[in-house]
Amino acid sequence: MNDAGNSTDDPVLVLDNVTRTFREGGNQLDVLNGVQASVKPGEIVALVGPSGSGKTTLLQVAGLLDRPDKGDVWIGGAACGKMTDRERTQTRRQRIGFVYQFHHLLPDFSALENVVLPQRIAGRGISQSEAHAKDLLGRLGLEERLNHRPGKLSGGERQRVAIARGVANNPDVLLGDEPTGNLDQRTADTVFQALLDLVREHNVSALIATHNAELAQRMDRTLVVHDGKLIPE
Ligand SMILES: Nc1ncnc2c1ncn2[C@@H]1O[C@H](COP(=O)(O)OP(=O)(O)OP(=O)(O)O)[C@@H](O)[C@H]1O
Ligand SMILES: [Mg+2]
Repeated sequence: MNDAGNSTDDPVLVLDNVTRTFREGGNQLDVLNGVQASVKPGEIVALVGPSGSGKTTLLQVAGLLDRPDKGDVWIGGAACGKMTDRERTQTRRQRIGFVYQFHHLLPDFSALENVVLPQRIAGRGISQSEAHAKDLLGRLGLEERLNHRPGKLSGGERQRVAIARGVANNPDVLLGDEPTGNLDQRTADTVFQALLDLVREHNVSALIATHNAELAQRMDRTLVVHDGKLIPE
């Protein structure tokens, strides 16, 4: 039991009856329709489903970048629906990491700086942030690329920097939206394995959308988006 009275086995992320509806040109699109899911500490869960089924929408809601129309998201035992935008931003910074299909690195900053920056924003000191960033980038095989800007890195290298950035603040949960979807099969394979190794080593939980069945199989379990709900595979 920790201070909040939670057991260490309590889920780090819960989606409780999450509904998300979009309205476009008079049409109503029920993308998520009562999603139930939970991710336990250290668990790595694959999120699969055809294009347009709602994976990105679900990850945006889970990552507090979007609010559900109904239901709630719980992170680290706290209900996020009632939080102010400021509290949600704080929760996102402290507890959630993201890795997207396209790296979204800051183009004018080096690989090292891109991994240092979120740590500084979270309040970590400069030397500690740099040491941690070097360690993470080194584990991902980028020790010779610390001072390269994203424009001078290969696609696989950029994604590895994005992965280091995603775990830099030791999030409770890492959300991945096709993190290797933009890479050739071989590079995707090694970069994805590096991501899994890093996540497991840091005991971070993860929910990762992928179209690649082989990658999904390397995770602990799979959830399929089907008719706006999540079903285990
Ligand atoms: N802001 C929005 N406004 C209106 N419709 C939206 C919006 N965002 C997503 N949609 C619709 O919601 C559906 C789900 O989109 P989403 O991006 O979540 O799918 P996905 O499963 O991530 O697909 P992909 O595998 O192609 O990335 C799509 O039909 C999309 O057109
Ligand atoms: Mg998507």
